[in-house]
Amino acid sequence: MDYLQDLVTLRGKISTVRKQGNSIGFVPTMGFLHEGHLSLIRAARAQNDFVVVSIFVNPLQFGKGEDYAEYPRDLENDSRLAAAAGCDLIFSPAVRDFYPPGYATHVEALGSITQGLCGASRPGHFRGVTTVLVKLFNLVTPDRTYFGQKDAQQCLVVKKMLDDLNFNIQFKIMPTVREADGLAMSSRNKFLTPRQRAAAPVLYQSLRQVEALFRGGERNGAVLKDKVHRLITAVPETEIDYIEIVGVDGLKPAEQVEKSCLVALAVKFGSTRLIDNIILEV
Ligand code: PAF
Repeated sequence: MDYLQDLVTLRGKISTVRKQGNSIGFVPTMGFLHEGHLSLIRAARAQNDFVVVSIFVNPLQFGKGEDYAEYPRDLENDSRLAAAAGCDLIFSPAVRDFYPPGYATHVEALGSITQGLCGASRPGHFRGVTTVLVKLFNLVTPDRTYFGQKDAQQCLVVKKMLDDLNFNIQFKIMPTVREADGLAMSSRNKFLTPRQRAAAPVLYQSLRQVEALFRGGERNGAVLKDKVHRLITAVPETEIDYIEIVGVDGLKPAEQVEKSCLVALAVKFGSTRLIDNIILEV
């Protein structure tokens, strides 16, 4: 497996891979890899000749007071895990090379898909995500790119950007990978204290309860949200950022679940903010 930091060397390598007629699968990450990332790398391995994983903690997608500096980093372990999952090349640029002094160009998807949910509580976050990705996609020129359902809003925003900007990249969404107790895998789980870690499965449990209510015929958005709210607030050390039920297409709030909806939540355990979601299929 190659490990590259330099943008020009990456371009050279990609050009060689292309000349040899290989397809490229790409998994963008911020590192501190876990089973969720590895499932994406394995999917890319199965569907492409050459697999690129980027590891870059992107400063543009963190707001003031967020955990950019604290975000966990472990390149050595990441390299080992990525290689074992089938990665051919890790690209991990330095921030000063990726965004050199004077860097001025940003890419932003506007409208309801970026306004609510994480877009409301993390202003500028998705602008940072689409900006870093447009640069990475231009450098890596993948045929296919792989994202996790856990970041459902990110998936919609990136898909929209790919369509709007006419990228010829297949967008693949893979299921959320969970711990045995249901907690969605996330690099941020490592910040949870033992007490918070024991409490955190309430997120998925409450989503499952909503699913059960929905299957039992409940369609009222407020009633469904209230169920999640009550279950989560009953657990100590939780602070709800949002619980929303939105249509899967435009992410607009749904008063009644009459078409397929996303139930999405963000909850803080101390200073650690976790997200999760399920889709109610209609
Ligand atoms: O999901 C992430 O880890 C990041 O938002 C991404 C897609 C790698 C962009 O920095």
